[in-house]
This record gives sequence, structure tokens and C-alpha cells, in this order.
Amino acid sequence: MKIVVIQGPNLNMLGIRDKNIYGPMKLEDIHKQMKGFAEQNKMDIEFFQSNLEGEIVDRIQECIGDADGIIINPAAYTHTSIAIRDALSAVQLPALEVHLSNIHQREEFRHKSLTAPVCAGQIVGMGPFGYHLAMVGMTQILGEVQAMKQAKQAQMAQQQTQAKA
Ligand code: DQA
Repeated sequence: MKIVVIQGPNLNMLGIRDKNIYGPMKLEDIHKQMKGFAEQNKMDIEFFQSNLEGEIVDRIQECIGDADGIIINPAAYTHTSIAIRDALSAVQLPALEVHLSNIHQREEFRHKSLTAPVCAGQIVGMGPFGYHLAMVGMTQILGEVQAMKQAKQAQMAQQQTQAKA
């Protein structure tokens, strides 16, 4: 199982940027913790950060046939990007949206997420711990997807055996 973590614009500035809102933790330290969780749970994980909308769209598209789930913080593009929303919708993979801050408590323009409606869930306001919660949530979702696939395979095998008899 493989999870791809996609981080949007200015998240490379964590630890320097608006510490009163986003806290002191750097992005690489958040990723270190996520990698630890992935290793413990025998999952592959890959990280991608970009300040460019098109690069984020490309990385989402590359997940087809490569990843099982996406954890994404589209950052400011959350509130503006139809292109990222369309890409998330197109790849048909479970995605979880994370925001360090509680976007609903902040300026009105941050209240609306264009991307959340095409994600399985959204975690806001939990700081870096939100990424851990997303890992736990994604583990649960992927476990359910796998169980459903196995049940379908078993049902098809049974139908084939019955057809032969
Ligand atoms: C953010 C919230 C966005 O509104 C903002 O533009 C960000 C970070 C968050 O993680 O809280 O860059 O996505």
C-alpha cells in the first residue's frame, strides 16, 4: 500500500512562516513523523511539495496506478483551485484533506474549500497532529477498500465455480 502526501504553496516555509498560526514545526519534521507511522504499518509513503498549481495537478495525476491514497494540504489553492479539485476527482483515489489551522475560524475567504467535496474527509485545526490523524484515517480507509476488493473476488470465484457445476 502506498500513500502520497502532497503539500501546497508556502508549506515549505513552515517553522518560519506565521508561527503563531502554524506553529514552530518544520515540514521535514512532520514528514519524518509520517514516515515513522508508515514504516510501523508497513506502508510506502512519498512526499511532494510545490508552490505551483500545475505541478500539484501533475503529481495528483501521477498517482494513477502508483498510489492507493492521497493526503493533501492544498494550502491557499484549497480556496481557489478548480484544477486541483478536478485532478483529485479524476484519479478516483481516496484522498484526505489536511489543514494545520482551523480554516473556519479564520478570514471568510478561507472558509470555503473547493477541494474538500472530492475528498473522503477533511481534518482542520489540529496542527501537525492533523497529519497523524490523516495517516490513521487513511489506514482505515485503505483497509476497508482492500476488504471490499477481497469480498468481491471471493464472490466472483464462487460464481465461477457455480457456473461450472
Ligand atoms: C492552510 C490554510 C490555508 O488557508 C493557507 O492558505 C495555508 C495553510 C493550513 O494548513 O492551515 O497556506 O492550508
